[in-house]
Amino acid sequence: MDTLVVDHPLVAHKLTALRDERTDSPKFRRLADELVTLLAYEATRDVRVEPSDITTPVSPTTGVRLSSPKPLVVPILRAGLGMLDGMVRLLPTAEVGFLGMVRNEETLQASTYAERLPDDLSGRQCYVLDPMLATGGTLAAAIRFLVDRGADHITAVTLLCAPEGTARLEQELADLSIPVTVVTAAMDERLNEQGYIVPGLGDAGDRLYG
Ligand code: PRP
Repeated sequence: MDTLVVDHPLVAHKLTALRDERTDSPKFRRLADELVTLLAYEATRDVRVEPSDITTPVSPTTGVRLSSPKPLVVPILRAGLGMLDGMVRLLPTAEVGFLGMVRNEETLQASTYAERLPDDLSGRQCYVLDPMLATGGTLAAAIRFLVDRGADHITAVTLLCAPEGTARLEQELADLSIPVTVVTAAMDERLNEQGYIVPGLGDAGDRLYG
């Protein structure tokens, strides 16, 4: 598994505003959207393309277009929904599937409560959206779910990661033979006793949707 922390002053600037406790929901949603579009640029570096012959007003030439099957974007409900528009802005023809997962506040165990995904993901590149990689339980389960359906290339886009979460993800997905990459705006210091990322930004779902 590879982890890419996007090092860019605009990403850092928007993330700082997002972390600020004074940032209200409307502003938080707008910042998350803008941040995801910046991360999406890096996250789609490996998106599959194929040659495409076109004619410009001047001459014929060969460019590229997205390969089929089209990529699948999977926001993890609820908080991942706040990242969907920012991602499909760069991948407007992508298919979108949904996974609803929630983390038990006491045990920190993730469980799935909703799923709306194609049955067969053979040969599909998947982009999983979830703002927080805390203990890593949610993302590990989501990635396993997609791989079990046949996905052969996974990129997770997060706003924040905790080192404990990425270590767990690496360990739990060690048996996978497909490429898995986490693209994030920051690797924070640690998790606290309640399983929150420190310094973090609080509860992303609550800050997006109340
Ligand atoms: C939060 C967050 C991630 C998950 C991360 O979701 O959005 O999905 O926790 O935690 P983990 O890495 O320790 O598994 P939450 O369960 O609060 O649900 P929500 O998105 O509906 O608010």
